[in-house]
Amino acid sequence: MRGKIIAVAQQKGGAGKTTLAVHLAVAAAEAGHSVLCLDIDPQGTLSAWGALRAARQPALTVEVEAVAGHRVRDAAERGQRGHDLVVIDAPPHDDTETRQAIRAAEMIILPMQPSPLDLWATKPVVDAALAADRPLRIALNRVPPRSRLTDALLEQAESLGAPVLANRLGGRVAIPTAMAEGLTAIETEPRGRAAEEVRALAAEIFALIDLGKSSR
Ligand SMILES: Nc1ncnc2c1ncn2[C@@H]1O[C@H](COP(=O)(O)OP(=O)(O)OP(=O)(O)O)[C@@H](O)[C@H]1O
Ligand SMILES: [Mg+2]
Repeated sequence: MRGKIIAVAQQKGGAGKTTLAVHLAVAAAEAGHSVLCLDIDPQGTLSAWGALRAARQPALTVEVEAVAGHRVRDAAERGQRGHDLVVIDAPPHDDTETRQAIRAAEMIILPMQPSPLDLWATKPVVDAALAADRPLRIALNRVPPRSRLTDALLEQAESLGAPVLANRLGGRVAIPTAMAEGLTAIETEPRGRAAEEVRALAAEIFALIDLGKSSR
């Protein structure tokens, strides 16, 4: 077996990289896949979530490993031998580590809040993905309902050469609340809006990387 590797990258801090990484990981676990998350961010946010999670022993298993950026490719390739999906959570700001995450992955997911500042901040990662010949998709995060700004931003994003995924996440309190306990909104409010949005976004991404329904 050789699993799929995705990287969640965006140099703008606080865009939702770690949030998206863990929610995609748990969505994959819920669909029956074995999942490894690689945390290359020295802030260790994903690892902290993983430690809380391990203590709670929830029904859905997600492995979490912290690794230095320069070792992420090796770790991801090792991970894909034992897991259906490897999700890399990239750090903010750091060019080198972001590029290492991009090169280790077969698809890049770039979370972006619908603001001009976030859009401008996407360019380095879009360019790095193009340079490394990796497909990239923008996942809109914390989208306000009925936002006209979002439509204008969509056009600008596409003009950067970055397709925008059809499914989006709204700003949902269930998300940080669940993560504070080492869980995701899929687990704390499985029938809530956040969980529905996450599953739809995850399904769209998993179809793009050809992650089957379940390997078990
Ligand atoms: N869809 C959402 N709804 C509500 N809160 C959200 C959502 N997405 C992210 N957040 C919150 O926004 C903050 C930043 O999210 P997160 O830590 O995932 O971003 P990040 O890109 O990983 O940040 P960093 O660049 O520091 O690594 C967190 O408090 C998180 O709970
Ligand atoms: Mg983060």
